[in-house]
Amino acid sequence: MAFEPESETTEPTDDGTSTADPVGGSAASGDPEISVATGTGSSSSTASGRTVIESRDLSVYYGETRALQDITLEIPEKRVTAMIGPSGCGKSTFLRCINRMNDLIESARVEGEFYFEGKNVYDDDVDPVALRRRIGMVFQQPNPFPKSIYDNVAYGLRIQDDGGDIDAQVEQALKRAALWDEVNDQLDESALDLSGGQQQRLCIARAIAVDPDVLLMDEPASALDPIATSKIEDLIEELA
Ligand SMILES: Nc1ncnc2c1ncn2[C@@H]1O[C@H](COP(=O)(O)OP(=O)(O)OP(=O)(O)O)[C@@H](O)[C@H]1O
Ligand SMILES: [Mg+2]
Repeated sequence: MAFEPESETTEPTDDGTSTADPVGGSAASGDPEISVATGTGSSSSTASGRTVIESRDLSVYYGETRALQDITLEIPEKRVTAMIGPSGCGKSTFLRCINRMNDLIESARVEGEFYFEGKNVYDDDVDPVALRRRIGMVFQQPNPFPKSIYDNVAYGLRIQDDGGDIDAQVEQALKRAALWDEVNDQLDESALDLSGGQQQRLCIARAIAVDPDVLLMDEPASALDPIATSKIEDLIEELA
């Protein structure tokens, strides 16, 4: 299935609540396939609304099958932007274009342009690994490394090696992901022994520990119970 949006981005309302406008190709017929909702989050005073991510006439194919068709979309910085639409309409495909995770799918082919901070991420001189350091991702299914809880969060920090206090950064990331209280006395134990919801919050801690410019979350709470979901929603609001 493909969605074929007209160029359209939503604006936050004055009171900071989110708006959602359809951008699906069938929107004109009153039956939108996908919507984009943009909110200001809790720190609206810092929000400038400058476009940070922009796709232009983006189409994605898996083999001969076109999953996305001519998507033109602008996403502002310092906002929470949500993509809403039915299963299979291409939300994950679009997200994976932003940090070139589709490169890892052999059959995937991208046409059109995709800009991050004004640079086309599909230009030949863009290093996808460096790009993914700036644009972190949390997937639908938790995917912790088969390492200790501590090492999962410290992994990217050690690679980054910015001279910071790694213990303190690990603690801070786990606190922001609402996991610290549950794991602070078992940091050396395997991440794989955590519950699914705890593993997902660990993956979020791992992603935010390196302080990415953008955090992509692909239905991060679908494996979580309502309490853990609400913690993640609070975190998303805090990050905005
Ligand atoms: N690796 C792949 N190989 C082939 N086709 C794929 C692949 N990934 C996705 N597709 C197809 O591309 C289309 C869009 O899929 P995508 O996963 O982006 O949808 P989605 O909106 O994220 O759905 P969901 O809400 O179920 O996660 C679907 O038709 C899907 O079958
Ligand atoms: Mg998906």
